[in-house]
Amino acid sequence: MDKLKITGGRALEGEVRVSGAKNAALPILCAALLTAKPLTVTNVPRLRDVSTMAKLLGEMGVAVERSEGRVVLHAPTIKDPTASYELVKTMRASVLVLGPLLARCGEAKVSLPGGCAIGARPVDQHVKGLEAMGATIAVEHGYMHASAKRLRGARIVMDLVTVTGTENLMMAAALAEGETLLENAAREPEVVDLARCLIAMGAKIEGAGSDRIRIQGVRSLGGAAHRVMPDRIETGTYLAATAAAGGKVRLTGAAPDSLDATLDKLREAGAKVSTTEDTIEIEMTGRPGAVSVRTAPYPGFATDMQAQFMALATVARGTALITETIFENRFMHALEMQRLGAEIRLEGNTAVVNGVERLQGATVMATDLRASAGLVIAGLVADGETVVDRIYHLDRGYEALE
Ligand code: EPU
Repeated sequence: MDKLKITGGRALEGEVRVSGAKNAALPILCAALLTAKPLTVTNVPRLRDVSTMAKLLGEMGVAVERSEGRVVLHAPTIKDPTASYELVKTMRASVLVLGPLLARCGEAKVSLPGGCAIGARPVDQHVKGLEAMGATIAVEHGYMHASAKRLRGARIVMDLVTVTGTENLMMAAALAEGETLLENAAREPEVVDLARCLIAMGAKIEGAGSDRIRIQGVRSLGGAAHRVMPDRIETGTYLAATAAAGGKVRLTGAAPDSLDATLDKLREAGAKVSTTEDTIEIEMTGRPGAVSVRTAPYPGFATDMQAQFMALATVARGTALITETIFENRFMHALEMQRLGAEIRLEGNTAVVNGVERLQGATVMATDLRASAGLVIAGLVADGETVVDRIYHLDRGYEALE
């Protein structure tokens, strides 16, 4: 499907079961590279990125069996430790195979990801950490060629907080000789979920969820069964949509604990939000109030929720400042929202959004996954029909948003 047609102006009502988290499932699937035993992963979302990862692992010789949310991966041997440009260019999370391949095979050839619609996205921190663990990494013809006899533990202070960087190094360190200390590590819940899976496989990891993770390397890891955590960004997207369009929605199978910053902002906008351990109910009547957000690493406000909150701000009472601090080019949706009549002024990494009563339907173009989600929400609060073009981006991260 290439285009999504939305008739705006209706309040949202109903119940949705949240899927497993894409950004937890992707590294967890890669963890199968670390063991010769089968890894069973459940609550895996049915997404294009998951299919891409399964294909990538398959090319390396991992047997991948998929059925309804369950994936069994088995890699008795790795036949080719290569991640080709063809796959890496479609999904930069492919770089997550680098650490596990190097730890298991002593070598890896992984394409450099290059730039993308939301920014430069370099991998220098992944490289710096692996080099500190004794790897040699050379870039030739667009590929990182990495080798190491056996990685050895090291103290690694990361220059900035990187989610997949932390995950890559944590997986590599699990099989390294001796202790690795990751300082300034990412605290995202997806890092914690991966650590839980690795621990179930026999890894010795302490401190995941804090900025200091200690990993005691082991000789080999075993098999395990792991259930992927609920997707906090999918959850947040439905919540933001309800806050913008009005209505009452109940989300089940969710993890409210991982959504503190988002829930605070929704309440500030005037939504009534109540939670249990695994459900969230949101009710919104009337126009939302303007809320400013500033993206930050977890537990701060997620950059993956920024576009959805910009959509909310376009119809809010008052002026909101939306500041993006993680990616330098993540405002493409702002220009598209302007086409719907939104009053947005870009000042460097801040978008100044003056809420208007309603947007007007038009055709807009999606540029990346979360921008698509933001544009869909904008379409819900626009009069008449909105068509979101290049909506295929959405299939990378939402099972069936429509
Ligand atoms: N960075 C570097 N050097 C590195 C690594 C990162 O300079 O070696 C910079 C990036 O350019 C960026 C910042 O550090 O400015 C943070 O990037 P990070 O590495 O944390 O991002 P990521 O791991 O590539 C994951 C998610 C993204 C999410 C970001 C930030 C996965 C598979 N992806 O990306 O999710 O936006 O963390 O939270 O976990 C999405 O789902 O739509 C998505 C883009």
